[in-house]
Amino acid sequence: MDWGMKNRFSRILNSKTGRCLMLAVDHGYFQGPTTGLENLGKMVNPILPYSDALMITRGALRTWIPAETDKPVVLRMSGGQSILKELSNEIITTSVQDAIRVNASAITCSVYVGGEYEKETIGNLAHLVNEGEHYGIPVLAVTAVGKEMVRDARYLGLACRICVEIGARMVKTYYCENFEKVVEACGKVPVVIAGGKKIEEKAALEMASNAIRSGAVGVDMGRNVFQSENPVGMIRAVRAIVHENVSVSEAYKIYQSRS
Ligand code: 5RP
Repeated sequence: MDWGMKNRFSRILNSKTGRCLMLAVDHGYFQGPTTGLENLGKMVNPILPYSDALMITRGALRTWIPAETDKPVVLRMSGGQSILKELSNEIITTSVQDAIRVNASAITCSVYVGGEYEKETIGNLAHLVNEGEHYGIPVLAVTAVGKEMVRDARYLGLACRICVEIGARMVKTYYCENFEKVVEACGKVPVVIAGGKKIEEKAALEMASNAIRSGAVGVDMGRNVFQSENPVGMIRAVRAIVHENVSVSEAYKIYQSRS
């Protein structure tokens, strides 16, 4: 790994724990003003200090996040569809030059394995990997799952492994039973989990804890943080699980505290 690639990576993965708590707020690129992110800056800026990295689009970054932030940016580079249409029909919307201009520490796009536009989305990832390797920017591949796909270790292992083989330096996927198999399919490439739809806080903390214990290096969570009744408490609780290995009940107490 070249110096620039290593340096960018080290901004995302905490040097002491080797783990990562990423805050995902890129939902608007296909969902519009997602619940909790209507005023993205108002929601994100108070919880950002507790995260290690921010996953976001260039437009949201420029509109709502102060350029003085010290948080590394994982820039969403794909889009082109909306919730009103076929979700896998994505293109690359952002140039690598613009990613460099906003000082992105990593770039990301979704891959829809088994989806209608499977080949095109794998092509998007390949394009980003070629550009990322050229400029020393790690690529995070997101395994997006169409409604018709079963989120089990067999499917997610297949999707993640394809991303690794195409050259992703990091993979984001969903938690499932036998998650170790998904992690194993990725070899040395670090895996983080998405939070998915909002669920009860304790269940979300349990999911994060199980993922870490099964070998994930971290969590790239969105709705389960910013749609929580206590977003600061929730991100602090997830952080304690990721970086301090606290139990779910200890983490839940952190979530409940308002300090
Ligand atoms: C979709 C995405 C998201 O937009 C987002 O990052 C998901 O985060 P969460 O599921 O935790 O709300 O990657 O594939």
